Amino acid sequence: MLRTKWLRTEDMKILSVVGARPNFMKIAPIIRAIHLKNRTHQGLADRDSCNPTIISHILVHTGQHYDKGMSDAFFRDLDLPAPDIFLGVGSGTHAVQTSEIIRRFEPILLDHQPDLMIVVGDVNSTVACAMVAAKLTYEDGKRTFIAHVEAGLRSFDRSMPEEINRIVTDHISDLLFVTEQSGVDNLKREGIAAEKIFFVGNTMIDTLLAFRDLAAQSDALHTLGLVEPNGRMQSTVPYALVTLHRPSNVDNRVTFLEILKALKKISEKMPVIFPVHPRTRKQIASFQVANSATFNGNGSQIDARPGPGDLCLIDPLGYLDFLCLMSKARIVLTDSGGIQEETTCLGVPCVTIRRNTERPVTVANGTNILSGVEMQSIVDASNEQLNKTFSRELPECWDGNAACRIIDIIVEYFKVKGIDAYRS
Ligand code: UD1
Repeated sequence: MLRTKWLRTEDMKILSVVGARPNFMKIAPIIRAIHLKNRTHQGLADRDSCNPTIISHILVHTGQHYDKGMSDAFFRDLDLPAPDIFLGVGSGTHAVQTSEIIRRFEPILLDHQPDLMIVVGDVNSTVACAMVAAKLTYEDGKRTFIAHVEAGLRSFDRSMPEEINRIVTDHISDLLFVTEQSGVDNLKREGIAAEKIFFVGNTMIDTLLAFRDLAAQSDALHTLGLVEPNGRMQSTVPYALVTLHRPSNVDNRVTFLEILKALKKISEKMPVIFPVHPRTRKQIASFQVANSATFNGNGSQIDARPGPGDLCLIDPLGYLDFLCLMSKARIVLTDSGGIQEETTCLGVPCVTIRRNTERPVTVANGTNILSGVEMQSIVDASNEQLNKTFSRELPECWDGNAACRIIDIIVEYFKVKGIDAYRS
C-alpha cells in the first residue's frame, strides 16, 4: 500500500556502517545530510502541519580499524558523532575478520531492524554487513533494504580483496550510488537493473570540499619542517607525499624493496614524506628493510628540516593534517583508491603505484597515472607527472552535494513506493 505525502516519523530508520579509515570520510557527509533533511522537514512541519519525514539514524563501527590514528582521529577531525554501537572486531585474516563482523553484526540488525542500511566503499566491514542484511528476514517477513555508496568501481583484478568485496556488495544491494560513469557502465554490464543505479557523485569529495579551508590551517607543514623563510614571507619546501598499504605492494619483500628504491631515487630531487600505515610499518620491521633506504624521522615529528635524499617515515596522520599535506604536495605517490580521487579534486599530480585502477576517471582527468611497481617505471611516471600540466576540470557531480543527493533519493524512493513495499 502506498503511503501519503510524507512517511510517518517512526517509519524511516537508517543504520550506517563504518569500519576502516576510508569509510569515515565517506559516511560523514551522509550523516550531515540526514540531519539537514530532518531540520528542513521540521521547518516545513512548523509552517504547515504536514507529517514530516524524520530519519532516525544509528551509526555502527565494526572496529576493523581501532588505533587512535586510524579511527579516533578521524571522528574528531570530521566531527562525526560517536558510534552508537562499536563491535570491536579488530584485525585478523580475511576469513576471521569477515566472519567475526558477520557474527557480531547480526544481533545488532535483529535488534534494530532498520528500514535501510548504508554501507560505503569496499572494505571487509562493507561486504560483511551487506551479507548479514541480505540474508536476514525478520519475523514479520520483512528485511532491511541495502544501499551501497561507491558502487560499481572495478579494477578487474580479482586478486585484490577489495574487488571481491565490491562485486559481492553490489550484487546484493538494493540501491547503488555511483561516483563516476565507469561505475554505471560496469553495473549495467553485470546485469544490474538500471533503476537501482544512481550516479550521484562522490561523498569523499563532499568531505574534502567541506574541510579544505579548515585543513589549510593545520600546522602539519611547520611540524614537519616543510616551511622555510623566503624574504619576509614563508614558502613551502617542494616535497613528495607517499602512502602505501596494499598487500600486493607491501607484503612481498621484492616488490616492497623495488618501491622503496624508487622513493629513494625520487627523494634525491625533493624530500619524501611517508606517513606509514600499520600494515606497512609491520612489514618494514619484518623485512628488515630499514637499512635499504635512509629513513629520516620516526614519528610525527622529524628531527631536522627534511632535504634532498630524505625519506621521512612518520606516523599515520589525521584527516586534516593529511589533507593539508596533500594539498601542498608537489606530487603524491600512492596505492590508495581514495587518494587518487582526492588528488584529482585538488589538482595535485598523482602516481598510483599499481597496475590497475578502479577509478579510471582520475586517469582520464590527467592528474593520475598508473606506474606499475617497478623502480624505473615509478621514477619515470613521477617525472612525467612533474612535467605535465592538466586541466582543473572536476569529474561530473564531484561538487560537494553527493550526500544530499543520496538522502533525497532514499527519501523519494521510500515515499513513492511506500516503506512496506520496499522492505518485503
Ligand atoms: C583495509 C582495507 C583496505 C583499505 C585500508 C585503508 C580490507 C580488505 N582492506 O586494509 O581496502 O584501503 O583498510 O587503510 O578491508 N592494523 C593496526 N591498527 C589498526 C588497523 C590495522 O595495527 O587500527 C594493522 C593490523 O596489523 C592489521 C593490518 O594493519 O592486521 C591490516 O589491517 P586490515 O584492516 O586487515 O587491512 P588494511 O590493510 O588496513
